[in-house]
Amino acid sequence: MKNKNVIIAPSILASDFANLQSECEMLNNSEADWFHIDVMDGVFVPNISFGMPVIKAIKKHAKKPMDVHLMIVQPERYIKDFKEAGADILTVHLEASTHLHRTIQEIKKAGMKAGVSINPHTSVTLLEDILAEIDLVLIMSVNPGFGGQSFIENTYSKVEELREMASVLNPELIIEVDGGVNSNNAKELVAAGANALVAGSFVFKSENPAQTISSLKKG
Ligand code: DX5
Ligand code: ZN
Repeated sequence: MKNKNVIIAPSILASDFANLQSECEMLNNSEADWFHIDVMDGVFVPNISFGMPVIKAIKKHAKKPMDVHLMIVQPERYIKDFKEAGADILTVHLEASTHLHRTIQEIKKAGMKAGVSINPHTSVTLLEDILAEIDLVLIMSVNPGFGGQSFIENTYSKVEELREMASVLNPELIIEVDGGVNSNNAKELVAAGANALVAGSFVFKSENPAQTISSLKKG
């Protein structure tokens, strides 16, 4: 697969929160495909990011789908709230939802695409019985909680293994990789079977974020 067909989802976590409107406009005018929105609760991960009011503020300006990544315990409590706040894709962690199958059904019933994320220590084989039900798997390539961490190399083989499982169970599956993504690993991730890449620091800390997004898109 060429990078051209790859979804690029810049992570707002690394943007300038004091200038959210202009950051949104930059993304609207760039080759970015989605807005990646990281919600952290200080319980599932050792950091707190932002919640509904900020997501609603982003939604006012975002002209592209909102890809909301929940790093919170018991995400099932807030499915309707995230829909109302503007989420188009809602991803929950396998490690954080006891009744994952029910949670996925509720996300879809609420009118969103449903994703499941796994931490670096979680095997992709644990997704086998939910794979046919979901639109997306978000493979964490760092331990969730913070932007700006280094990419974990074991991710490539996880992506390959999942793409192989998906070829049988869910050929349309979107495989998204999140954490430490940059121009050194993007190509190899796509070659392994990823078709969506999240990038925070690499995009927003670069001199020309829109150009950095184009370079990721080109591969
Ligand atoms: C980490 C978040 C990521 C993060 C990525 O917990 O889920 O989306 O913002 O940031 P970078 O690209 O800087 O690793
Ligand atoms: Zn994320």
